[in-house]
This record gives sequence, C-alpha cells and structure tokens, in this order.
Amino acid sequence: MATSKEYIKTIQKKFNDSLKKIKTESELEQARVTFLGRNGEIAQLMAQLKTLPVEEKKVIGPLLNKLKIRSQNVYENKQKELHDAILDRKIQQQKLFDVTAYKYETTRGSIHVYTHLIEKLEDVFISMGYDIADGPEIETDYYNFSALNIPPDHPARDIQDTFWLYQPNRLLRTHTSPVQIRTMETKGVPLAIFAPGRVYRNEETDASHDFLFMQAEGLLIDKNISMGNLLATARTFLQAIFEKDDLSIRVRPGYFPFVEPGVEIDASCPFCSHGCSTCKQTGWIELMGSGLVHPNVLKTSGIDPTIYSGFAFGFGIERIAMIKYDINDIRLFHSSKLSFLDQF
Ligand code: PHE
Repeated sequence: MATSKEYIKTIQKKFNDSLKKIKTESELEQARVTFLGRNGEIAQLMAQLKTLPVEEKKVIGPLLNKLKIRSQNVYENKQKELHDAILDRKIQQQKLFDVTAYKYETTRGSIHVYTHLIEKLEDVFISMGYDIADGPEIETDYYNFSALNIPPDHPARDIQDTFWLYQPNRLLRTHTSPVQIRTMETKGVPLAIFAPGRVYRNEETDASHDFLFMQAEGLLIDKNISMGNLLATARTFLQAIFEKDDLSIRVRPGYFPFVEPGVEIDASCPFCSHGCSTCKQTGWIELMGSGLVHPNVLKTSGIDPTIYSGFAFGFGIERIAMIKYDINDIRLFHSSKLSFLDQF
C-alpha cells in the first residue's frame, strides 16, 4: 500500500535524488510544489493516513512526520546552497570586472589646439587688464585697409592677397587689424584689447602658408604710451606662452602702414641657446609685427594723437603653436586627422 514503510523510504530517496540534480531556483520551486506543496506527494500521503486503522496510524504517522521534516530540511539546505552559489558568482564577476580596461571602439573628444592656445593667450592678456574683442570676418575696404592708413593706391595693398567678395566693397579680412578700428570707434580711449580670430589670404598653400589661418591682435591706447610699454608687454606674454622666464626679445625695423615706427619682434629660441632646427641655427624666432599706432589711424578713429598714443601688435596663432608643439605643417590645423587633433 501507498503508506507502507518501504514506500515512504522510496519517496524520501526520490526527493533527495531529484534535489541533487537541481541547478536553478525555478527547478527547486518546481520540486517543492511536487513534494512539499499543499497538493504534493507528502500532503497526499498525510491525507491517506486518516483512512488507516489506528495501529497502522501509530507506526506510519511518525514516519510520515519524519519524512515531512527531513524533506523540508533537505529542501532548505538546497535552497541555501543555490542562493550561496548565485552570490558567489556575483562576487566573482565583480572581482573580474576591470575598471581600468580601455574600450577601444569608443573615441574620446579633445579640445582643438586653437581653443587650447587661444584660451591660454586670453588668460595672459586678461591678467594684464585687457578686454577680449571680436570683429566680423567679412569686412569692408574701409576697416581692412583705408582706416588703417592703407589708401586705394597704396603699394601695401599688394602685401595682402585678398579674397574680394562679389558684393561690392566686401572682402574676407586679411588680418585682425580691422578690430583695432572697430574698438576705437565703439569703446573710445583709453583701451586695451586682445582680439584673436580667423583671417584669409588668397594664396597658394604649403607647409607654412594656408589661405585661412588664425591671427591675434593687441591694441593698447592711453596717454604716454611708448615703445617701452610695447616691448615689456610682448616679452611678458611670450614668456608666459612659452613658459620660459628667461626668454628675451629683440626688435628689427618692420613696415606696416598703420604703425610708426613699425617693428618686427623676435623671441630668443625657447629650445636652445646656440641654435637648433627650430630657430634655423640663429637662436631667434620671428614672431610678430608691431609698432606705435600711426597718428593717421588715431585721427581716422576720432582720437587726438597729440594727447593719446598706443601700440599694436599682430601675430599668427599657428606660428606660436607650431613652435611650441613642434608641428611641421600649418594645414594640419584644418585637417580632420584625428592622430593630430587627439594630442591636445
Ligand atoms: N596686421 C599685420 C599683419 O597681418 C600685423 C600687425 C598688427 C602689424 C599690428 C603691426 C601692428 O601682418
């Protein structure tokens, strides 16, 4: 009969054996329902117990109770075992997770070298009390040339190969010097501005020339401004940009119609003392055009040159970057070469 000692033993064995094979929590739940559930095999045996004669009840009753308690224990042990195994796996996974592992297929963005250097330059000039100024890239003849003491027939117009636009009297600015005129008109004097921005030249490109590049303009106007102020300013910012306290400068005569006298400023080579490939064995690097603002330019902008004087300078941002970071081709600045762009 179903409630014999032997049968109870086989049920116990069947339950134990089936639990041994179980690997997941859902399989275990299935086994619990089949054996220990409300309509499970053990519950059914308990129901049959009622139909037995008293003598048999006395023997089988305790056996069934034992079966129930043992099976419950076996079930709980298995449950704990599965639970521990899941936890172990989780811990193991966390241990194996390498937070330093680099995911190759994701590329990281970086700041363009222009932004990098312009921010640095702006910081230096802001620390010296300058304002940052800006102007349009499409200019008029007046701001790009005439107001800068470059009249229509002046030979200096040949220096700048200009992109003239189809609209009459409109051009792509060939330098940042028009910002000088625009700020003198709008801000009045005294003033100190630093104006980085794009400029355009209609010329063939090569490793050191591009038709589009970045210039920066400096202009300071006040009473009693002399060449001394210009040279001190130039040396200070060049020392800061090249991060070299003992960098010195020298001047050579230079011609720009909007300054008088005009000078070219060179810096001592930041990389050597006796000559290297960067300074072409000279120990000096040509960096910028500058001079004292021409009285005609002041007058044109409504400033009295007998009361005010000032200095102006202009330089190519690529040139500074090429020297500072040893870049050998100006065209890289506008290329999409990630191996170049990624470095900054
Ligand atoms: N604008 C000049 C150039 O493009 C540079 C310059 C600026 C020279 C200011 C003197 C003063 O070459």
